[in-house]
Amino acid sequence: MKQPTSFYLLTDVHFVSKQSWVEGRSITMRERGDQIALKLSPEILDSFIEKILADDAVDTVLFTGDNVNSGDMYSHEDFRARLERLTAAGKKVYVICATHDYCSPNGEDECFQRGAVRYTETGTEPTPFMLRKDLFDYYADYGPKQALSVHEASGSYVVQLGEGVRLCMIDDNGNGRSHCGLFEDGVAWLTAQIHESKEAGDYFLIATHHPVISPWEVYRHLVDYEMYGGYRELSKLMCEEGVRVVFTGHTHVQNIRKYTDEAGRWFVDVSTVAAVNAAGKMRRVTVDPDAGLCSIESVPLDKITGVDTGEKSVWEYLYGINFTGRIEQAFPLAKTDIGRFLDETDGILPAEKLRKHKALVKLALKFLSSRKLSFAAKFGKVWKTLTDTEKQEAKETKLLDVVFEICRHIYPGNAPFTPDTVAYKALHGGAQRLDRIVAKYKIEKVQKMIPPGSSLTEIAEDFLYNNRTGDDDTIVVDLK
Ligand SMILES: [Fe+2]
Ligand SMILES: [Fe+2]
Repeated sequence: MKQPTSFYLLTDVHFVSKQSWVEGRSITMRERGDQIALKLSPEILDSFIEKILADDAVDTVLFTGDNVNSGDMYSHEDFRARLERLTAAGKKVYVICATHDYCSPNGEDECFQRGAVRYTETGTEPTPFMLRKDLFDYYADYGPKQALSVHEASGSYVVQLGEGVRLCMIDDNGNGRSHCGLFEDGVAWLTAQIHESKEAGDYFLIATHHPVISPWEVYRHLVDYEMYGGYRELSKLMCEEGVRVVFTGHTHVQNIRKYTDEAGRWFVDVSTVAAVNAAGKMRRVTVDPDAGLCSIESVPLDKITGVDTGEKSVWEYLYGINFTGRIEQAFPLAKTDIGRFLDETDGILPAEKLRKHKALVKLALKFLSSRKLSFAAKFGKVWKTLTDTEKQEAKETKLLDVVFEICRHIYPGNAPFTPDTVAYKALHGGAQRLDRIVAKYKIEKVQKMIPPGSSLTEIAEDFLYNNRTGDDDTIVVDLK
């Protein structure tokens, strides 16, 4: 009898130390244009940690990169202090890093962060930052020192997670413009590790930062360089070797997707939403080696330590901070006070430009907000196929409300418009009509955005409901 092993996984914590900013326009604008809560990242991480500490059944915690937001040392120091809190309480902590965790002053490592800044009242000032070459030693206590094997060139390592199960943390902290996965010697090391694990009779899991399977095909098509470098080779290796699960982050999207090769061999990529997203969650994973099962659940926050959210849920409280939520919440102002609408969405929409054309903006927003779902159904030529009740619903539902609902589900996954809903029928029809128009008039700009062999309709389906595994939060994977 082997004991089951459980762990928590957090990704994309994007920690921002309180020492890295003072309240003011510069940090606020920086945060608005993002899709994560930066100012409250310490409180959010602390809240997750408290949940972890309260769970005696779990003794291991993984962090899979973008642990801090912009590579600054204040954030690394405060983040590492949180890891110490976990280890002091008896938890094992395993860390890998990613592009947000370091800076490259001269563009070495092709990093997009040339230096880190502290946000002052009026702007920003330079602040000490982490170099990529120093990351390994800085976090060596959290993984490498406990490892069965370390691949020093990449900073990847394998640990014994528990009885009958090993985990490989692949550090892929390149920016992906050229490569962010393992190079040839790293792949050889990984393959050897999988073989050793098999010989020991252990199951083998992988965690890394960048996606191995894209949450949506259109993502891979548009930003292939944001994928795990060598994702095709890793997919092949996982299928050949029977490695069934890879945990990823980076897209900030909660998404579970299965890949099956021509021979019917498969694995799942479990992508986890950024911990500091309004809908942030951590994964709670249990591996039962005797049953050969890996059970994956998701744990949201019900409160944020030290923050009074009043009547609001954590999601309601955080959603309006970032761009989609902020536009949605400010939208009613578009009708009554266009100036205030532009103030509220400053940092997201090009406020200065739009102010010059206030009347036009007002007209466009009015048009948008008055459209009903019936408009999409008629455009998509599916109006006649709807029942009377469905027609009534389509006439009463604002198109924009449906669009906002889709936006709300981009990061948390599990969008709600299954094929039996009126919203699906109307928007699906609309997308099909657009596909016909794009093909007929050969609109190249749009055609370029569509993955080969795919269509706008297929892209739309990905965002309307979970057409993949049915649930982005939970899955039980057969490891055998
Ligand atoms: Fe990230
Ligand atoms: Fe990332």
